[in-house]
Order: sequence, then structure tokens, then C-alpha cells
Amino acid sequence: MCGIFGYVGKRTDAGVIAIDGLKNLEYRGYDSWGIACKDGKTLDVKKDIGPIGDIQSDQFGGKACSLSIAHTRWATHGGVTQRNAHPHLCEDGTIAVVHNGIVENYLELRRDLKAKGHTFQSETDTEVIPHLIEEELKKTGDFAEAVRTACLHFDGRYAILALHTESNMLVAARTGSPLIIGVDRQQNGIDGYFIASDIPAFMKHTRVVQYLDDGEMVSTDGKTITFQDIKTGDKRPKREIAITWNVEQAQKGDYEHFMLKEIMDQKESVARAVNQDEGEIRTIAEAIRRAKGTFLVACGTAAKACMAAEYFFSVVAEHHVNVAPASEFKLFHHFLKPDSLLIVVSQSGETADVLEAMRVARDKGSKVLAIVNVEGSTIDREADYTLLINAGPERAVPSTKALTGQLAILLLIAYALAERLKEGRTLLLETTSSLNDMLNPRFVERLETLAEKIQSEEDLYIIGKSWNYPMALESAIKIQEVSYVHAEGFAAGELKHGPIALIEEGTPCIVLTGNDEALQDILSNAQELKARGAMIIGIGPKKFDVFDEWIKVPEAGTAQAILNIIPIQVLAYFLAVKRGKNPDMPRNLAKSVTVK
Ligand code: G6P
Repeated sequence: MCGIFGYVGKRTDAGVIAIDGLKNLEYRGYDSWGIACKDGKTLDVKKDIGPIGDIQSDQFGGKACSLSIAHTRWATHGGVTQRNAHPHLCEDGTIAVVHNGIVENYLELRRDLKAKGHTFQSETDTEVIPHLIEEELKKTGDFAEAVRTACLHFDGRYAILALHTESNMLVAARTGSPLIIGVDRQQNGIDGYFIASDIPAFMKHTRVVQYLDDGEMVSTDGKTITFQDIKTGDKRPKREIAITWNVEQAQKGDYEHFMLKEIMDQKESVARAVNQDEGEIRTIAEAIRRAKGTFLVACGTAAKACMAAEYFFSVVAEHHVNVAPASEFKLFHHFLKPDSLLIVVSQSGETADVLEAMRVARDKGSKVLAIVNVEGSTIDREADYTLLINAGPERAVPSTKALTGQLAILLLIAYALAERLKEGRTLLLETTSSLNDMLNPRFVERLETLAEKIQSEEDLYIIGKSWNYPMALESAIKIQEVSYVHAEGFAAGELKHGPIALIEEGTPCIVLTGNDEALQDILSNAQELKARGAMIIGIGPKKFDVFDEWIKVPEAGTAQAILNIIPIQVLAYFLAVKRGKNPDMPRNLAKSVTVK
């Protein structure tokens, strides 16, 4: 979603820092961007649609400046235009605001403000914010208080960052989307503060952070910082936390794209996910055993991990769990009891629909376990219990290494539930070592060649059975989102109930297989496809005559899903590159979806 960045302090290159900060937030996806720097007494504002591109610091922001805010926008209210890009200013131009989320009652606020003589330049909901702060400021002359009282008028979930030229301050507030403060501490004390929607935006400068919680605001002039409750204005203490991952982990290294780097990271990241405390895993398994209903809930790729887990729990532990996309979960709240357990799975830890599901569960008194990649994220902090995926920062919009980590943890829990934790851990460690061997240059090249062969196809189908069924759905997501090829995944047995009508001579169909009880059935389904002219691409440990192409994947038993999805990730990556698309930043998509 939208990226927010701000700096105030002793540095005199706040414009350059802001451009750099925005570039480090590009991965979230955006359609327009903007920066405001304090230039003497006034604000220098630059906005544009499309990518930030090669904007140079001497073109903008090269001037000495110690106060800036910046934004990457993902349009919700008002089209993708330069005018609608943030920051938005108040009437006299002394207040600039960037915003993530939605001010639901903006039409009403805009009408009132217009009646007071305010004029508006954009179609956005955001623009009411600086104007309303300006009105509030007239009452007390205190900028932080003006932002606080303005916030009391907004309906909806949001994160805002406001800059005031007169008081040289930044004030941020959140009731939904994340905001993190970076503490710029040098030898002589505090040099300044960064405020951003994600840590990579300022990580080059500091790894000491403070998290803003829901319902809180923060104000700083670069020397001192104050945290307050938005509703009451009461001051809040705030801990400083040191980030454990490093800048290199968040950078591309020698890879052209984050997506490929992150696919390769899986050589280590899956092993890190497996390396959980055995006692904790057993405690969680016990909680699942005792719960009156366990619900697995997530969005997008993480939701496919949950679907696979339903099979893990059934096959390995013979235990029933309920699975729902987070956006649908609210409708099942009747089934939640105080002794039910909600397990949420999320890479970012900020997905709005997942947070909503957690609130629904909390209202019913149910406990929440989070399986999350980003430590300190809202989901991590709001859950009763968290298991970290430990995949390291995932920057490309398409999720890859977070998924395999999620699958590994869920499978480990299923083994613990079956009281076979040691066996599960051994299997998963063997799988990570197979994964290491598999992701070799020849394997990658083989998939690049396959991508070249099918790059002009307009339609592609993927079938799977058992845990390979959710992996077929995930395969479709991966291919669609990065290459824009029409891809669909099906439960293999469902083919003959409709989708097979789509098959024509030469239609590429990917068949995900394992050396398991589903094998014979899925081979029959592959035959049915072949009989209609499909070109069959088999993925799995064994070669069969029905395959026109075969991508060999090591055998991994109940962990097969973890290995089978990897060639798809590589194939999707090359399909995108060969079709001239940027796999890290697919159109219309965002890395972290913080609005419902
Ligand atoms: C977005 C991302 C997906 C991700 C989904 C859920 O749509 O583009 O890659 O799977 O959100 O995100 P989460 O951070 O909760 O795993």
C-alpha cells in the first residue's frame, strides 16, 4: 500500500534522504509519488505519476533542508493524477500531509471546510486533513494538539504524517496502517527522527526503532519526541527496539530483481523457519488439540499456505481445522467461542483483513496465534502468541520465501499434533537440503528455457490434488501477478466439471505431482487433458509418459508442496522478465494491503 516517509533533524539533506526513502518503499507498489521539503520558510513540493525513476538529488531535494515528508500513492479516492498525489497542503501552505488509508467521512468534512473558505486542489479524501489541522491550529497554536484534535474528526483506519513549517515539526498518527519511528542517534545524542511505513525506508541510517501502536500519535522537532494517546492526549512511554536483520538482507545483491533473490534465499530461509523452539511448537499443538475449533485465516499467498495446512493436519495428524480467507472470516464469527483458536498467517503482519479477523476473534474471547514474518508488525504485537517465519525481509510484491516458511511451520505443527515432532523436523530439514540441491544453475536455466517456450501463450492451467491443489492455486497467483498471463489453478478432479472445456490443441497445463496416494488419480486427469490436445508440463519427483515436459523435483513426502512450488516461482519470474514486465512491482498490486 501507500508508502510514507518523513525526516526531521540535524541532517541538511532531508530531500535526498526522502527520495532514497521512497525508493526503498517502491516494493509496496504505487501509481504516483510526491515529496515536500522545507525550503527556508516555504515548502518545495514535487509530485508526479508513474515511477520515481531516475530523479536526481540535484533536480530536487539537493538544497540544504532538514525537514521533509514523502509518499508513494496507491490510488483509492480520486484517479491517478499529479494533483491527487500526496503531499497535500493546507490553505496557507504551511502544513503538508501524507496519508495511508481512507477518511470515510471526507465528503462531509470537505463541505464544512469549504463553507469556512477552504479551497481544494484534488479529488482525494486526504486533502481534508491539512485543512482541518489548519482550522484546529487556529484554536491553540499548538501543532501536535491540532493534529490530535483533527484526528478526532476522522472516521476510518489510517496512518497520517503531517509537517509544519512554522514549528519545524513532524506529527504522525495511526489508527490502522503501520508507522515506525527510526531514531537517528549519534555520539552527541539525538540527531533526528525518521517516520516511515516500513523499516527499509530508513534502515541505511539507523536500526533503532520505535513502533507506533493503533490509536497513538507521535510528535517530534528532531530533538525531542513525544508519544500520546490520540483520544485522551495522555503521554505514552515507548521502548526502543534494535532491528536484528541487516541492510544486505534487505538488498538485491547481485540479482537483477528482488523476486529472484528471494526465491534463492529459500536455500536458507526454510531451514530458519523450521528452526523453532520444540517446546513452543508442542505447546501450540496442545492448544490446537484442546481448542473448540481451530480456524486458519490469511490473505493471498498466505491463505494458500493455510489451505495446504488443512491437508497437513488431516493427513499427518487426523485433526480437523477450518480454513477461510480473512476477508470472508467475519461471516463465520458464530462458530467462535472463548475456547476457539484463531491462527493467522501473514508475511507483512499488517494485512487489514487479517487484523479485522483478529478483532472478530478477540470480541468472542478466542485466542490468536500469529505466524508472521515481520517482527514488531501489528499482527505480531496484537496476537496472544507469535511464531516468526524468519524468512528475512521480503521486498518483491509476489510472496515466495515467506510462503515456503509458512508451509514448513504449519507442517511442523501438524507433526507435533501427531506427536511425531522429531520425524517432522527431520523430514523438513531433509527437504531444505533437497531444496538447496534443486535450486542450482541448471535447474534455473531449464525453467528459463521453458519460460521462453511458453512466453507467448495467453492461457495456462495448473492442476493439483491434496496439498498440491492449494499449490495449483498459488501457482496461478504467481504467474498471473508477475507475467499477466491468464493462469488458473484447479483441483485436478474438478476438471471434468467445467474447466476442461477450455483446453485446446497445445494449451499448456502444469500438473503438480507427488509420490503419494493422489498420484494415480492426477495422472488420469493429466491423460484427460492430453486427450484434448493439452501440452502437459509435469512437476514432481517421477517422470511419466503423459508429460511432454518434466521438471524434476526431489521427493519430499508430506513436504512435497514446499518443493513443488519452487519451479513455479522460477517459471513465473522468467515469464515476467521475458514478457518485459517487472516482477518486483506488478501493476495494480501492493506488497502490504493495509486497507479492506
Ligand atoms: C498482498 C501481497 C501478497 C500477499 C497478500 C497477503 O496481496 O501482494 O503477496 O500474499 O497481500 O499478505 P500478508 O503480508 O498478510 O502475507
